[in-house]
Amino acid sequence: MTAAGDTPLIAVSDLAANYGHVAALKPTSLYVAPGEFVTILGPNGAGKTTLLRAITRLIASSGRIAFNGRDVTGLRTHDLAKLGIIMVQEGRGLFGEMTVQENLSLGAYSLGGSSADVERRYAKVFELFPRLRERADQIAASMSGGEQQMLAVGRALMADPKLLILDEPSLGLAPRVAAEILSTLGNLNKAGLGILLVEQKAPLALKLAQRVYILSSGYVRAELQTHEIKSHHDLARYYFH
Ligand SMILES: Nc1ncnc2c1ncn2[C@@H]1O[C@H](COP(=O)(O)OP(=O)(O)OP(=O)(O)O)[C@@H](O)[C@H]1O
Ligand SMILES: [Mg+2]
Repeated sequence: MTAAGDTPLIAVSDLAANYGHVAALKPTSLYVAPGEFVTILGPNGAGKTTLLRAITRLIASSGRIAFNGRDVTGLRTHDLAKLGIIMVQEGRGLFGEMTVQENLSLGAYSLGGSSADVERRYAKVFELFPRLRERADQIAASMSGGEQQMLAVGRALMADPKLLILDEPSLGLAPRVAAEILSTLGNLNKAGLGILLVEQKAPLALKLAQRVYILSSGYVRAELQTHEIKSHHDLARYYFH
């Protein structure tokens, strides 16, 4: 249940993951309500990427996952993607030798939808990121960091996500470009897309998010409404500098 008593878009219960003997993620529970923008903050090594990979089944984990009230614990990454759980990974995971267009088409690959649907998604991605249209035939590896991140988000959108999960999309980008990408995420959320974002650029990410989880040493230390952070003296000093 969400705070408002609704069925969450995604609800994760007691999710835990190890690397060998190291418990990188201790039993962790969180949810994203329909149409909500949730940010996860936390220092390097806190387990943020591990948490996202556990949710999307890129690594083995224990615990339960429900999506729109349905138990999806046993599903694999690809089946979760078909339901609309799509992740933009840290480092973007693009096919560097392929063109922008080819990378986008891979986002839609095997996830179904008529060709008219796919065309509509291209149009939407190009509307959000006009630079991708201009560079449709360019090799992905030759794009700037910001353009590559736009492409990674664009490719995720081609899969028609219901929940978009992003791992530090602003990493290594100039502040202006990072702001542009994050504000696009804000617009997608306003149009109804659920978003779960791991981000180090806290002030920017907190402007967009309705709720925040703070992860540290592999577990959730705090769950707050964004507006509560400012009245939390220690957190405010840490995250709004
Ligand atoms: N493949 C792996 N094998 C062993 N240990 C790992 C592996 N991946 C991550 N870890 C360890 O698990 C812990 C959590 O790592 P994780 O990448 O989830 O942190 P993070 O919060 O995403 O950090 P960052 O902000 O630096 O991206 C760290 O101590 C890390 O060293
Ligand atoms: Mg990480």
